[in-house]
Amino acid sequence: MEDRPSSFWMTSTPSTGYPEIQQDLKVDVAIVGGGIVGITAAYLLKKQGVKVAIIEADRILQGTTGHTTAKITSQHHLIYARLKQQVGQELAQQYADANESAIHLIASTAAENNIDCDFSWRPAYVFTQSEQYLKDLEDEAQAACSLGIKASYMDNSPLPFSVRAALRFDNQAQFHPLKYLQSLARQIPDQGSYILEKTTAVGIDENPLAVLTRQGQKVTADKIIIASHFPFFDGGGMYFSKLDPQRAYIIAIKAQEAFPEGMFISAESPSRSLRSQPYEDGELILIAGESHPTGEGTNLNTHYENLLDFAHENFEVKDVLYRWSTQDYQTLDGIPYVGHLTPKSANIYVATGFDKWGISNGTASAMVLNDLIVRGDSPWAPVYNPSRFNLTSVKTFVGLNLNVARNLVAGKIARLPEGVELSNGEGKAIQINGEKYGAFRDDKGELHIVDITCTHLGCELNWNDAERTWDCPCHGSRFSYTGEVVEGPAFNILHAAEQCSNAVEARIFE
Ligand SMILES: Cc1cc2nc3c(=O)[nH]c(=O)nc-3n(C[C@H](O)[C@H](O)[C@H](O)COP(=O)(O)OP(=O)(O)OC[C@H]3O[C@@H](n4cnc5c(N)ncnc54)[C@H](O)[C@@H]3O)c2cc1C
Ligand code: FES
Repeated sequence: MEDRPSSFWMTSTPSTGYPEIQQDLKVDVAIVGGGIVGITAAYLLKKQGVKVAIIEADRILQGTTGHTTAKITSQHHLIYARLKQQVGQELAQQYADANESAIHLIASTAAENNIDCDFSWRPAYVFTQSEQYLKDLEDEAQAACSLGIKASYMDNSPLPFSVRAALRFDNQAQFHPLKYLQSLARQIPDQGSYILEKTTAVGIDENPLAVLTRQGQKVTADKIIIASHFPFFDGGGMYFSKLDPQRAYIIAIKAQEAFPEGMFISAESPSRSLRSQPYEDGELILIAGESHPTGEGTNLNTHYENLLDFAHENFEVKDVLYRWSTQDYQTLDGIPYVGHLTPKSANIYVATGFDKWGISNGTASAMVLNDLIVRGDSPWAPVYNPSRFNLTSVKTFVGLNLNVARNLVAGKIARLPEGVELSNGEGKAIQINGEKYGAFRDDKGELHIVDITCTHLGCELNWNDAERTWDCPCHGSRFSYTGEVVEGPAFNILHAAEQCSNAVEARIFE
């Protein structure tokens, strides 16, 4: 296994090299973000003769889509019984239809384009080892069946360890997401359409409509899709108060025994999500879980250790080949926000808040946005409407924003040590004359000091030892130890601590 975390999907596909923006451009639809949402939307739109430009801050497919588990399912843990209660049969039906259709869109697109992306149909199971969840699984089976999903309750599962019960959804699938999406991406540039990499979108001009880039050039468009995971432009939609960032971890092992044909997730927490993946002449077993709010916790490497313990308890582990982590955003009511950015933004669209189910929901979002743009309507637009505000949203809104306020205040009043010991590979926060700094000593012994006030809305950052990043507990921005943005909503680098780095260095000991 590599010393540092690395995603199997990214390691097993070539990196891309699309050009940066060089001049002002004009297209029909500008799409910010080259993950599954942006690329699928661009592919669908271009197929219908729409000229598109994908504007990607880094290289495409290195965000959450490059670090997912890549199950393609309408089974999203336990959701349908809750949805029916929360939003009613009609909207729950839209959610089920959208996600079932997304599975079929991926299957048919891979087949039509002859994409070798390890696509295979598999059942998806939610399993439980606890009596407490038996009724939940039964209720979920009933709710899913009432929405036309082929679901069944079982008192066993094909897993190599015992379970109390399982809920099985048929006609679900899995694939290698980057092999599939890189192939779609290759069809985009040309005939007035573009993929622009290393081109950060920093704003939107609304009249005339255009995406502004860090380079100073702009992409003028009739419509804009914000597919940047966390919306890089808020436009008054208050997305920072409606999205909750959650990180999770994945390990990829080789085991002595063959993995059963299926994909699995536990009903109980901490959740364990499992699938296999063809690998050389055998297979990998991916084990994911250990979700927690971004920016919270110390010693985050223990999350990998917990997954490893689970692997050793349940499989004869021959090797641990990969490990990586990533994050996704949860909305106030657990349903993604897809559609017009705000009720007033007729030509700006957004897709976000997939709660770790954005392979199917992200594909469904691209279908919704394609329909809204090309036909003016989508049968699934109501359930995803970003401007909804139901009772569940109100309750979660209060809790989420109290938590953000608490994190903001706690970060400001926390007293940090005024001197720290730092070994190679360690990072710690330090306080000098009331100012807070982050210090990291790299493997060669060089110190990297940054101001750890988040450039989004000013919360104090926490050290993530597993990824060697400074993470924000408020809305999930992450920064490298040298201060570059790893993921938004922030898009400005951390302020350099040059003026004080001598003073800080004097307080850091080996
Ligand atoms: C641990 C884990 C496991 C998961 N497993 C599954 C699963 O099995 N099945 C499933 O359905 N879902 C799963 N998901 C969720 C799914 O992977 C994500 O919801 C989905 O990949 C999000 O896609 P996206 O296109 O919205 O975002 P991303 O893939 O993050 O793409 C957004 C892109 O926008 C770019 N960007 C951001 N800001 C800017 C800017 N200002 N200018 C230009 N570009 C910008 C980023 O660089 C990035 O490339 C999982 C999530 C996690 C955390
Ligand atoms: S991400 Fe909002 S304050 Fe840091």
